[in-house]
Amino acid sequence: MRILVAGGTGVIGSRVVPLLTAAGHDVIATSRSADRLLPALAAGAERAVMDARDAASVDSAVDSARPDAIIHLLTDLATEDFVGNSHLRIVGTRNLVAAAERAGVTRMVAESIAWVGEPDAEPGDESVTFARDPDTDESLFPAVESLENAVLSLENGVVLRMGMLYGRGTWFGRGGRIHDRAEEGTVVATVRHTSFVHVDDAALAVVKALDWPSGIVNIVDDDPVDAEEWAPELVWAAGGDETRLAVRATGRASTNARAAELGWVPEHPTWRDGPFDLV
Ligand SMILES: NC(=O)c1ccc[n+]([C@@H]2O[C@H](COP(=O)([O-])OP(=O)(O)OC[C@H]3O[C@@H](n4cnc5c(N)ncnc54)[C@H](OP(=O)(O)O)[C@@H]3O)[C@@H](O)[C@H]2O)c1
Repeated sequence: MRILVAGGTGVIGSRVVPLLTAAGHDVIATSRSADRLLPALAAGAERAVMDARDAASVDSAVDSARPDAIIHLLTDLATEDFVGNSHLRIVGTRNLVAAAERAGVTRMVAESIAWVGEPDAEPGDESVTFARDPDTDESLFPAVESLENAVLSLENGVVLRMGMLYGRGTWFGRGGRIHDRAEEGTVVATVRHTSFVHVDDAALAVVKALDWPSGIVNIVDDDPVDAEEWAPELVWAAGGDETRLAVRATGRASTNARAAELGWVPEHPTWRDGPFDLV
């Protein structure tokens, strides 16, 4: 297939691009910067510079790429501008779906988040009702809902609700924001009942999902856990002071039975196997 990876430089995208080229696909990776796409070029992909907030830029990237499928891994949390990230989820997704429709592309795999369900100690499946966590930015859930609805409006739209990403290059990896805050003793766990997923497993799910039927699939590990349990471990692994830990919000973990039915089984079934400071 010819596959456009929107967000080919990100923490998941940079893993997905070489997996796809190694599998023999023609890949076009996007970024707002041509320079950031050098690793994608080295992996055998073509590059396209695109700003997802600009409809003309997205149209041009999709038209030139002539993809059979689009992978949507656009998030923008580098500066922790959560409202800006929500805007990207709404406008960027709208632009990408509109460009796909114009170009006759019906297949899209998009990244969403798993912690959308009403707070509950029991992990939820893909049918959970959206419920806003009072401690999260109020733009988050409407933006996630808008992203999901837009992607699911396509004939072959697949939404992957990712758990909390950990692993090299994520906020939980060494040098990542949450890791650093754990080291400083100022980590705040914002999802009390948490499902993690290792970022390598998340990338494998994205590739597999190109063959999945339309719908929503949770991509989480096998080991839902309360923040009271994982947060002190993170602080300990980062060498921080556990007594300064703040765990304040409620949330909901997720089940991964649907993904297992579809053939995705995490290579890292539990976050406990990879201490946060080593992954
Ligand atoms: N499920 C989760 O737990 C989850 C989800 C998202 C993020 N995070 C955490 O947050 C960290 C930082 O995330 P991040 O948002 O910086 O994601 P990232 O995965 O590092 O990058 C996101 C991708 O989106 C692209 N992008 C952003 N804004 C764009 C725009 N306006 N137009 C076109 N492309 C755009 C970026 O490209 P360029 O910047 O190259 O243009 C990049 O390829 C991650 O490493 C992860 O730890 C976690």
